[in-house]
Amino acid sequence: MKKTLFFTAAIILSTLLAHHIQAAEAPSAALGKKLFNDSALGGSDNKKSCNTCHPGGKGLQAAGSNPNLEVVINRCITGPLKGQALKDNSIEMQSLTLYIKSLKEKK
Ligand code: HEC
Repeated sequence: MKKTLFFTAAIILSTLLAHHIQAAEAPSAALGKKLFNDSALGGSDNKKSCNTCHPGGKGLQAAGSNPNLEVVINRCITGPLKGQALKDNSIEMQSLTLYIKSLKEKK
């Protein structure tokens, strides 16, 4: 009886944990916003974040429709942030583009 309880608890816990990990790995505008304010983005260590020059995403409302959005984002990461370019299909890049695309709606 005790053993059954233990295994049931273990299964519930691992299911919850797996779900949590999966949720953390899904790209989202919310994660993009966090990264936008993160001065360590792309391994940068110069204290600058995207938000330093684009406070609250100011001036980027039209950028969401740029077909080369990933390219211009990486230009700002490797330029002013002095970080490493992100892969287009990375969670970070997908989240940043989702965040920037979301700025359009808040005009
Ligand atoms: C040192 C200041 C600076 C930092 C830091 C910076 N940018 Fe920029 N960014 C610029 C400038 C200058 C331009 C080109 C002029 C413009 O379009 O506003 C630009 C252009 C852009 C554009 C293109 C705008 C358009 O309309 O096509 C995007 C998108 C962008 N930045 C995103 C980011 C992101 C994301 C970050 C963080 C990784 C970032 N920037 C960090 C200065 C900065």
